[in-house]
Amino acid sequence: MKIAITGANGFTGQHVTQFFANKGFQVHAISRGAARFATQSPIQYHSCDLTDMPSVEMVFDSIRPDWIIHIAAMSKPDECHVNPENCLLQNVQATIHLGEAALKYQSRFIYFSTDFIFGENGPHGEEDQAAPLNFYGESKLQAEIWVKQHIPKYVIVRPVFIYGPELPGSRPSFIQWVQKQLLQGNSIKVVNDQQRTPTFVNDICEGLETIIVENHNGIFHLAGAEIITPYEMAIEVANCLSLNPNLIEAVDSSSFPEPVKRAKQSGLKIDKASKVLNYKPHSFAEGVRKSF
Ligand SMILES: NC(=O)c1ccc[n+]([C@@H]2O[C@H](COP(=O)([O-])OP(=O)(O)OC[C@H]3O[C@@H](n4cnc5c(N)ncnc54)[C@H](OP(=O)(O)O)[C@@H]3O)[C@@H](O)[C@H]2O)c1
Repeated sequence: MKIAITGANGFTGQHVTQFFANKGFQVHAISRGAARFATQSPIQYHSCDLTDMPSVEMVFDSIRPDWIIHIAAMSKPDECHVNPENCLLQNVQATIHLGEAALKYQSRFIYFSTDFIFGENGPHGEEDQAAPLNFYGESKLQAEIWVKQHIPKYVIVRPVFIYGPELPGSRPSFIQWVQKQLLQGNSIKVVNDQQRTPTFVNDICEGLETIIVENHNGIFHLAGAEIITPYEMAIEVANCLSLNPNLIEAVDSSSFPEPVKRAKQSGLKIDKASKVLNYKPHSFAEGVRKSF
């Protein structure tokens, strides 16, 4: 089985790439710059700007994958807000390029979306009404709509607040930031009025494997099972790592005036993935312990 994975240099992409390579799949990792991870066999690395259709065509003509897992994105809401044109290019146009490559080479297509396509009143089910609160969510929704309209047997996965081990060359996730601050004895303020269902990155990998091996299609929420605030996550990190929880102060999101709106009550329901994929995510505490 030949799998092309985009965004392979990013946090999630690196994990997904290593996971499928370790499982013996033939993995073609794609990202923009040079590879920031070890690319020994069975991983073949391709540097490709997905906004450039001729480059996408050249790479996919050489790979002709069975499955494309499209993880690459402009993933920071603040960046998307400041540069909406570039956001549309990276998040929507690049997805169209990949979708067209999938159609041309008859590859199955998995698009990585987000809980940010929804507004308040989470946790949300797969078929809830989308109502993005910021431009990042809007761009990811536009890409979803294109995928649904053009790709037969599409797959859309939606994770939330992804965390996990920091791989060499990868960026840290929230839990590494908390660990670093507490180890240095720094006090931190963390919001306690935003509910999320944080996702352990290994659970996403397991969910993707089941989707591919069992040949599923449709939308799947691959998230954690617990509804928890970032403050509660930080306390859990302190407890799991025996660090000082008294350094963590709970604050309202109004303490951090941000350019983009974020839902207070977000999170995703995972009933469908549990039933159809037998998806069994780790608890947040288990995920943290497995990350260090
Ligand atoms: N992080 C979360 O908590 C979260 C939550 C829900 C959904 N998601 C979704 O999950 C996916 C992964 O998120 P992440 O946070 O792991 O991402 P990330 O760390 O920001 O990595 C994204 C990667 O995409 C690549 N990329 C961006 N534009 C590209 C282009 N034009 N051509 C080629 N590669 C390009 C970048 O490659 P280079 O580094 O090589 O430039 C980057 O490494 C995204 O689709 C995001 O929307 C994330």
